[in-house]
Amino acid sequence: MKLRSFHHLALLLLLAAYGGIAPASAGGSWAFLKNVGVSGMHMQLLHTDRLILFDRTNVGPSNLTFPSGHPCRLNPQDDWFHNTTDCTAHSVEYNVSSNTFRGLSLVTDTWCSSGHVAPDGTLVQNGGWKDGTRKIRLLRACGGADTSCDWAEQSAPVVLAADRWYATNQKLPDGRAIIVGGIGQPSYEFYPKTATNNIAFALPFLGQTDTLYPFVHLNIDGNLFIFAGNRAILFDYTRDVIVRNYTMLGDGSDLRTNPNAGSSVLLPLKPNPTEAEVLICGGTKATANDAAAHGHYPPALTTCGRLKITDENPTWVVEEMPSPRVMGDMLLLPNGEVAIVNGAIDGLGGWESANNSNPTTVIYRPDLPFQGPTSRFEQQSPAGITPRPRMYHSSAALLRDGRVVVGGSNPHEFYVFENTKFPTDVTLEAFSPYYLDVANNGLRPNIFNPSPKAGPVKVTYRGKLKLQFFARDGVPGSVTMVAPAYTTHAFSQNQRQLFLTVDVKPLQAFKVNGPDAMPFPGFYEATVDMPATPILAPPGYYMLFVVNGRIPSQGIWVHIQ
Ligand SMILES: *[C@@H]1O[C@H](CO)[C@@H](O)[C@H](O)[C@H]1NC(C)=O
Ligand SMILES: *[C@@H]1O[C@H](CO)[C@@H](O)[C@H](O)[C@H]1NC(C)=O
Ligand SMILES: *[C@@H]1O[C@H](CO)[C@@H](O)[C@H](O)[C@H]1NC(C)=O
Ligand SMILES: *[C@@H]1O[C@H](CO)[C@@H](O)[C@H](O)[C@H]1NC(C)=O
Ligand SMILES: *[C@@H]1O[C@H](CO)[C@@H](O)[C@H](O)[C@H]1NC(C)=O
Repeated sequence: MKLRSFHHLALLLLLAAYGGIAPASAGGSWAFLKNVGVSGMHMQLLHTDRLILFDRTNVGPSNLTFPSGHPCRLNPQDDWFHNTTDCTAHSVEYNVSSNTFRGLSLVTDTWCSSGHVAPDGTLVQNGGWKDGTRKIRLLRACGGADTSCDWAEQSAPVVLAADRWYATNQKLPDGRAIIVGGIGQPSYEFYPKTATNNIAFALPFLGQTDTLYPFVHLNIDGNLFIFAGNRAILFDYTRDVIVRNYTMLGDGSDLRTNPNAGSSVLLPLKPNPTEAEVLICGGTKATANDAAAHGHYPPALTTCGRLKITDENPTWVVEEMPSPRVMGDMLLLPNGEVAIVNGAIDGLGGWESANNSNPTTVIYRPDLPFQGPTSRFEQQSPAGITPRPRMYHSSAALLRDGRVVVGGSNPHEFYVFENTKFPTDVTLEAFSPYYLDVANNGLRPNIFNPSPKAGPVKVTYRGKLKLQFFARDGVPGSVTMVAPAYTTHAFSQNQRQLFLTVDVKPLQAFKVNGPDAMPFPGFYEATVDMPATPILAPPGYYMLFVVNGRIPSQGIWVHIQ
């Protein structure tokens, strides 16, 4: 590269490094994004930087009317609209960089459904209620100015084998997904579908615990960790065998899955991992269901359980959040920390079943040594707006720029905006964690090659990826890869993060000429080892970040296959 153009580039990067997107503060900030007119019960970010959100379809008109000329929906099976047309949207595509959105068309009911992104980037969403309970719906990702992508409802044989309402999808190493549970469904099945393979297999463990939104994580040995109620198993889906029963979390008086709605993450995996840990936080006492039915809202749980699921006989390490939380969301941040947002401090999941929101934003630091149950939690004091209550039927997602977007909340059966403590919420807001504060601009790495705007980079298992980036201060030493999750009901399905082996060197190509040849300070080239196997990272799209201490870059999309 010629020196002049190099200086031009350096200037641009320095400007980028100083022109952060968040106001100065010590603990990040919250900002309002948009009223999108649809309550975001479910959310999924796609590799086109479009956030797809959707509600249910049979709650009457939403606050987003389709532009004239857009076809309206007519579904005689719809509980609310029956034979009348519905010209409002129940799903939205939100364009992150332009903060704009457009309505998408759903036909059948998507209420409390599940989903995943197929290896080719198509959003696969399945189940729901009534006419939607066996439906599979696909949404092709489209980027740039393209607005042609929309939901496509599938028909037989591409339908579920069983009714699934409140199920969980988990992507598998071979590119399929397993779909687990749902109300009255102690069973599982697989996607994709063909006419001959559409079978539901019994999983009695769910019937003995809780069939609703089980926490499912793909372990590094290829088995599935499945947590329901307060118990967990390690399940070999290839042989239909439980290979391990884990000890109960708590003494039996606490429940963690829906409607008791704690949250769960597989903690970030280390390079070439030999162990894996799961963190489950919040939930309620088992007695909360009965109490809420009688108009009482006991405090939610403050406790978390952390379990090394790869150990022979692991025991839960109990930790304690700064405040009680039910219906919260735990999101893996680009630097391997966990953001805890949304939810209530009392009651539980369900209509009108909680009485006070939890307005606090908390960060959990998995890598800090355990020095007592509260030592890994940091309650944030963000600048900006006070985030709105995000109660039942809310969601959250990590964006490629490192922000956490939240949406939804509707503890009522229909859209209710007035005379209620928790109105139906049709807005999006974003939390910019502390690492986006202006004070961290000098440390923030800026990846410039491959260009973050150029679209996904193709990578392979065991392949090498070269990244060039700039960081004024410090020496960025780690690279992470995060799978965008399908979030609903306090659990992010398919959320997954890997730290990758990386070799960082000063960028030699940028040496200043002359007798005292020196690499230009702040410019680096990283050689990243991509994950060795699809068990570690099922095929598909991931966001990849360079991290400098605790400060991540903006991500780039990679596609591994
Ligand atoms: C939604 O639309 C209704 C009816 O037009 C209106 O009363 C309400 O204020 C709107 N709510 C929001 C949050 O936009
Ligand atoms: C909808 O229309 C169909 C066909 O005209 C009719 O059979 C059905 O009863 C109607 N349903 C309702 C709820 O009006
Ligand atoms: C999304 O935003 C980008 C950046 O502003 C813009 O180039 C693109 O046209 C937008 N796409 C749609 C469909 O609005
Ligand atoms: C797990 O527990 C179930 C039910 O108690 C039991 O039938 C099964 O044998 C146990 N499996 C293992 C591997 O311990
Ligand atoms: C609900 O919370 C409010 C405070 O926000 C409190 O005054 C009220 O007593 C609570 N109601 C119940 C039934 O616990």
